[in-house]
Amino acid sequence: IDQPNVITCKAMVAWEAGKDLVMEEVEVSPPQPLEIRVKVICTSLCRTDITAWESQAIFPRIFGHEASGIVESVGEGVTEFVKGDHVLTVFTGECKTCKHCESKKSNMCQVLGLERRGVMHSDQGTRFSVKGKPVYHYCAVSSFSEYTVVHSGCAVKVSQQAPLEKICLLSCGVAAGLGAAWNVADISKGSIVVIFGLGTVGLAVAQGAKLRGASQIIGVDINPEKYEKAKCFGVTDFLNPNEYNEPIQQVIKRISGGGTDYSFECIGNTGMVTTALQSCCDGWGLTVTLGVPKTNPEIASHYSAFLSGKTLKGSLFGGWKPKSDLPSLVNKYMNRVDEFITHNLPFEDINKAFTLMREGKCLRCVIHM
Ligand code: APR
Ligand code: ZN
Repeated sequence: IDQPNVITCKAMVAWEAGKDLVMEEVEVSPPQPLEIRVKVICTSLCRTDITAWESQAIFPRIFGHEASGIVESVGEGVTEFVKGDHVLTVFTGECKTCKHCESKKSNMCQVLGLERRGVMHSDQGTRFSVKGKPVYHYCAVSSFSEYTVVHSGCAVKVSQQAPLEKICLLSCGVAAGLGAAWNVADISKGSIVVIFGLGTVGLAVAQGAKLRGASQIIGVDINPEKYEKAKCFGVTDFLNPNEYNEPIQQVIKRISGGGTDYSFECIGNTGMVTTALQSCCDGWGLTVTLGVPKTNPEIASHYSAFLSGKTLKGSLFGGWKPKSDLPSLVNKYMNRVDEFITHNLPFEDINKAFTLMREGKCLRCVIHM
């Protein structure tokens, strides 16, 4: 059997918080037991990459977690993948054997869940180095590299017919929004929905709500440029909180006849979780959180919200179990993601994608390796 060697390739390395990524020659070690090495084909930039790059302290690091690619080699014990398989990487894995993987109620794998320390799950080590210096991972994916190593439980085999330059969006943001609407909230026909934040995540919730037959989809965003685009995704009413002299939840209550059936926080602002909770109706109003806050992680709420029957529900990756659910989502949805792709850029221009997203000028930028 061929033993995979170290690969030297290009990667965009973050050396410091908030500083432009730098293209470097990196060494990518062979996949360790139960890992696979993937040739990344496309990766899209997600808001969470930016949040981590701005606010975390683990450097040097290779960011990127929304990606598609082709298996280049497999480590010992991998039976599920062979060289040439098409895959999506996932930032939260599925081991298939832990209590959560065995439960229908959870996608929070206890073995391959969200990795926060910048290393691989199996040995807390890294698979990248630059001039002998280790480079940390991000979410155990690190797709801003021509080659990356991921645990075989953090990759999903997809149809060879699915266009890799599009389906990378289903590896995180779009899937998270659709799943929040379908799996977590389970929106029913005729419902009234409010969505806070009309980025890719919020607009995917809107599309999911529309497909479920929601009758009114209210979109809230401080960027007025979002409205035109949002209409295509099913948003029926647009509210810019800066244009009102009263709290936005009061406006929402008024136009929804007493509060919405569902509200979704897709900004990453815990203050907005409170507003979202105040915007849904008594009795059965459900607030779902999707955002990942950078600061002030505590949530404030008056207890009366819960006395009056409201529910606050968290979610990660829209409740999808990646291995079990993503292949069929890809088959069903691969031709519907185009509207989310506002920019396509070559790998060396990745810093432009960061700027576009920080300035609120894009939904998804797909980076072509
Ligand atoms: N009120 C209303 N809208 C806001 C506010 C605010 N205070 N602050 C930001 N927004 C809007 C932005 O104008 C933008 O349109 O929220 C939207 C966020 O969209 P993106 O930045 O494109 O982020 P997205 O990729 O959709 O992710 C949203 O989900 O996965 C998490 O980490 C991610 O927390 C982030 C959230
Ligand atoms: Zn598990």
